[in-house]
Formats: sequence, C-alpha cells, structure tokens
Amino acid sequence: MGDRGLAHTMRLMTRVLSGIQPTGDLHLGNFVGAVRHWASDQHQHDSYYCIVDLHALTLEQDPAELRAKTLQVGALLLAAGLDPDVCTIFVQSHVPAHPQLSWLLECVASFGELRRMTQFKDKTAKGGEGAARAGLFTYPVLMAADILLYHADRVPVGDDQRQHLELARDIGERFNSRYGEIFTIPQAAIPKVGARVMDLQDPTIKMSKSRSSPQGKVSLLDPPEVITRKIKRAVTDVDSEVRYDPKAKPGVSNLLELLAVATDSTPKELAAKYDQYGPLKNDAAAAVVEFLRPLQTAYADIIADPAGVTKVLAAGADKAESVANPTLAAAALAMGLLPRS
Ligand code: TYM
Repeated sequence: MGDRGLAHTMRLMTRVLSGIQPTGDLHLGNFVGAVRHWASDQHQHDSYYCIVDLHALTLEQDPAELRAKTLQVGALLLAAGLDPDVCTIFVQSHVPAHPQLSWLLECVASFGELRRMTQFKDKTAKGGEGAARAGLFTYPVLMAADILLYHADRVPVGDDQRQHLELARDIGERFNSRYGEIFTIPQAAIPKVGARVMDLQDPTIKMSKSRSSPQGKVSLLDPPEVITRKIKRAVTDVDSEVRYDPKAKPGVSNLLELLAVATDSTPKELAAKYDQYGPLKNDAAAAVVEFLRPLQTAYADIIADPAGVTKVLAAGADKAESVANPTLAAAALAMGLLPRS
C-alpha cells in the first residue's frame, strides 16, 4: 500500500486545513468567510489551522510588527473558539516542510498557470510585475504545499481563494499522475452566505486588509462604537429599495448578508422586513457588535498571557510536523531524491 493509501486507512476523520496571513488587522471578512467555519469544522474533522507568515513576506512587512501580528493572530484564533485540545494551530515557518515541499511543487507547476492567477495580477497592477517579489509569483505553490502536506480533504476559505484552490488541485493531480499517488486532492469549502464580505465604502471590492480604507473594513478588535459608526456610514445604493441583489445593489446586499450571518437568517428573508436603509443599518450594526462581542471579550484574556499563546503554537507545530514530514519524505522519494540514510 502506498503512503497515501496508508494515510487514508489510518485516518478515521476527514482532514481540514486552512490558513490566514498575519498581516494588518484581521477583519470581519476573514471571520465571516473563513475563521468562524474553522471553529465549527474542528468538531467534525481533524483540523489544522496555519498562520501563514511565509506568505506574508511576499509583500513588504515591518519585521517587529510581523512577529507581533503572528502572535496576535494566534490569540485571535483562540478567541474565535479554536480549541488547541481539539484542533491544531501552528505557524507556517515553524514547520520547514512547507517551503521544502513548495520547492518540489514549483518543479511541477508551470510558469503559465502561475501567470494566470488573478491575485498576482491584482497585486502587481500598481507597481508592475518587474518590481514584484518572486515570492508573490510562487505564492500559490506554497499554498498548495500547505494543503497537500496534510492530505487535506476540505479547505474552508472565502470566495477570493477559489482560484488558488483550483491550482492546488491541479498541481496535486499532476504530481500524482507523474510520480504516483502521494497526495489527497482537496475540495474548497466556500460558505453560501458571507463568502465575499464587501468593503463598506466601496461595495464593488472585497473587504481587504491591504486595500480597504479604515472606514471600509471592520477590524475584529474595533470597539463597539467604531463598528456602529462604520456600518451606519456604509455606502448603499442610489435608490432606496431594500432588495437582496448583490450585482445591482452591492451595498445593501452586503449589509443584508452581514445581518443574516450575525442573526443566523437569510439575506432574502431579511430584505422582506425592511423598506428603508436606516433601520437596516441600525440593526446590522447592533447585530455585528453582538456577533463580535464574545470574540473580543475572550481576546482580552488570552492576549494577557502571550507565553500561553506561544506554548499553544509550539505544541501545534510539533503535531503538524508529525503529519507534514512523512508526506514531504514520500513526495521527495517519489520525485527521485536520494533519502539521507
Ligand atoms: P487571507 O489571509 O487573505 O484571508 C484569510 C481567509 O479569509 C478569507 N477572506 C474573506 N472572506 C470573505 N470576505 C472577505 N472580504 C474576505 N477576505 C478574506 C480568505 O478567503 C481566507 O479564507 N492565501 C490565503 C492564506 C493561505 C491559505 C493556505 C488558505 C495560505 N495557505 C492554505 C487556505 C489553505 C490568504 O491570503 O488568506
């Protein structure tokens, strides 16, 4: 039986892996599109959640700030309900198998397919390709390595990661057909509602750590009055009809989606209850404040003990390595590298 077959028989549960960059402040889009699903997935699947600090290096970072943010994201993930006794939370750079497998996969991925990645095109639109870091170009291969190392079946992400997921599948399939069945081919798990939370000031673009203005995004640690102000000042649409129609009415539809997520309802049902923007904004603001309150309360306690967070991340890295290292070794052997005896 090959390593992949063995890994399958030994696993009783499906495997989940996802990742988040420790850059800027985590925002409502990250929570609604991804992290809140991680908290529920951990109870149904064998789950690995990775703070992808190596990915963060593809854009300029202040070194001290990157270190601080990495710890902060660790604390935020714990505050969001990830339980280190149930799932595995770790930092990407603590597990060297990630960049190691990434190199092997760079020799499987093609230049042309990386060139087609819309995030690469977006991120180089301003400064041009010439000045972009080479890591920004190979970024999706490292992401494929993150996923394939863990034999992940399911990858819970927001809608903006769809194309990267497709590439991870293509690379995994190509590797398997060229070198033998080493990798599990993952499926993206993209939520039906809240997969693309839009910028509050420009609802035609997604809420983003780097591109949104402070008024356009709700940071997870924004105080309640700031959240309320930002949502009440959200840009809506020219007419005053409340209708769920993300294409024609992106601003109002975004607020309906946020209210739906926070109150466990559906945007269409909610649209029927409002005939003016004002009350919709008030209710959405109040609901988002309550939705984030448990996370904010838990965060204050957790970050007061940074050593505790560091300990969780170290234990997570040990556990992650126990899965990642054998996968890396199997892939290297399959490609023809001589094992060190
Ligand atoms: P990142 O750090 O940009 O975002 C983390 C997660 O948040 C989701 N997200 C959103 N969801 C809804 N609305 C939004 N406005 C919004 N903005 C962000 C993202 O889809 C993501 O799920 N390349 C990834 C990190 C990564 C990864 C991985 C993910 C690296 N390796 C392996 C999954 C598996 C990224 O930059 O996510």
